[in-house]
Amino acid sequence: MKVLMLHGPNLNLLGTREPGVYGNLTLDEINQRVFEFGREMDAEVRFLQSNHEGELIDALHDARKWSDGVIINPGGFTHTSVALRDAISAIGIPVVEVHLSNVYAREEFRHRSMISAVCRGKISGFGWRSYILGLQALIGILKDQTA
Ligand code: DQA
Repeated sequence: MKVLMLHGPNLNLLGTREPGVYGNLTLDEINQRVFEFGREMDAEVRFLQSNHEGELIDALHDARKWSDGVIINPGGFTHTSVALRDAISAIGIPVVEVHLSNVYAREEFRHRSMISAVCRGKISGFGWRSYILGLQALIGILKDQTA
């Protein structure tokens, strides 16, 4: 089982970026924990972070060729990007939306996600564990597909 984990803009700053909201772990530390969890579950997880919308879209297109599913935290693009939503619709593999913070406990503009309706589900508010929970859900979906 192969999974792409995509991190959007500003998530490269985790560890120092608003730790009260996003926690103290760096992106590398989170990726390491996710990688280990994936290994225990027989899933190979590859990671990409980009601050550029087009690069995230290219990675989604590419994921169709080699991966079984995608976990995505689109950062601020969550709330704005029709192009990201269209890319998720287009690739036809399961995508799970993940956020570190509870977006519903924050500013109103974060309550709207452009991508939720085209994702299989969404996990928000559990800090770095949101990624683990998202991966667990995706692996479950993929196992059901092959059962
Ligand atoms: C975020 C929530 C977004 O609203 C914000 O723009 C981010 C991070 C999260 O993981 O909680 O960059 O996606």
